Amino acid sequence: MDKLVIQGGRRLEGTVRISGAKNAALPAMTAALLTAEPVHLHNVPRVRDIVTMGRLLAHMDANVATPEMPSTTYTIRTESVNDAEAPYELVKTMRASVLTLGPLVGRFGRARVSLPGGCAIGARPVDLHLKALEQMGAAITTEKGYIEARVPKGARLHGGTVVFEKITVTGTENVLMAAVLAEGETIIHNAAREPEVTDLIVLLRAMGANISGDGTATLQVQGVRELHGATHTIIPDRIEAGTFLIAGAITGGDVTLESCAPEHQGTLLAKLADTGIKVTREGPNKLRVRAHEKLVASDVTTEEYPGFATDMQAQYMALATQAEGASVIRETIFENRFMHASEMVRMGANISIEGNIATVRGPVKLEGTNVIASDLRASASLVVAALVARGETTIDRVYHLDRGYERIEDKLIALGAKIQRV
Ligand code: UD1
Repeated sequence: MDKLVIQGGRRLEGTVRISGAKNAALPAMTAALLTAEPVHLHNVPRVRDIVTMGRLLAHMDANVATPEMPSTTYTIRTESVNDAEAPYELVKTMRASVLTLGPLVGRFGRARVSLPGGCAIGARPVDLHLKALEQMGAAITTEKGYIEARVPKGARLHGGTVVFEKITVTGTENVLMAAVLAEGETIIHNAAREPEVTDLIVLLRAMGANISGDGTATLQVQGVRELHGATHTIIPDRIEAGTFLIAGAITGGDVTLESCAPEHQGTLLAKLADTGIKVTREGPNKLRVRAHEKLVASDVTTEEYPGFATDMQAQYMALATQAEGASVIRETIFENRFMHASEMVRMGANISIEGNIATVRGPVKLEGTNVIASDLRASASLVVAALVARGETTIDRVYHLDRGYERIEDKLIALGAKIQRV
């Protein structure tokens, strides 16, 4: 199992290119299941979850043309798909496999998708996805760990009004993909407004779907009989961008992000400004973060977009260890998403946790040691902490990191970090 060995205390300086968004590329890949024509996707990040999704689609007999370095283009052809099943072996490594459910039921009228099972960051059920698809006419059973969804022979899903009790990103995406081929109109209330959802809508529209309400909490979909192929460029990864902004700032560096989407950063930039970090817009796709005088504590509550992203919470916690005062971090999206805190405490951080609230007191001098990555964003936060720690930090189980960050160590090394993969 790979580890990263990081020598802390180096200032990051230079330019880094932000990759395509994993969380936009995953639903875009499953959207290819909605048409017999090829879907071409550009700016797909080279990360493990994308490879897993490619394998999952290939398991269903889709033809997935994997990119050759340095290409980030995927061509997916699903005309020969007949095995509408997402097996446990693949789903267990990537929860987003559930994104095949909506398109499979929408196009083929049947799907068999393994239940995602337990997850390190909480229960993460898919009940809201299932309830919505049932409302649209799918008969759903869960047996032996598999979700079986069926539409009566000769029928299609039908439109309806879906009201999500809780905002769910992949739930919204699944219902959108089911609704585009359903009979009649579907209205989705309390829909997720994340840029990744909007990116999916842009692709679906290019495939011939009729959707309105992008970026709002109410989406309207007029079902069509058939979709066609399309070419689409995936939006930049706002979480990777945020991670590099924090990495640059925590090392007192001067880092420019290229090919990012500043307008997708939501409240992150304002929050960083509260802590004393200067981020400037240097062009339509460029952000620059510069050395701070002194970091000051600022409270954060995770929220759905455009609020502070739960996927940035761990990295922000690393930053808070270097800020003067107490930062109160409230996690409202996922239970049990503070596993990185105990590892940071082992590095010398002062963090106390009560339920979904972590209080970080700083600044402290972090010390390098051996730590274990427990999930994707937790791993990123340990990398960030290690960059500023004194001495050497060894991060174990970095396969979590590889699920969602493209060559993170190469990008950091190019900015002046000292990192080795062993
Ligand atoms: C997506 C992102 C993930 C991000 C999360 C929140 C992808 C592939 N992943 O995950 O990186 O952290 O959004 O921004 O895009 N819930 C239910 N029932 C459901 C569905 C969700 O109770 O049927 C709950 C979840 O347990 C969680 C909350 O709703 O507490 C939000 O989860 P959701 O938005 O669905 O997260 P994902 O789509 O899985």
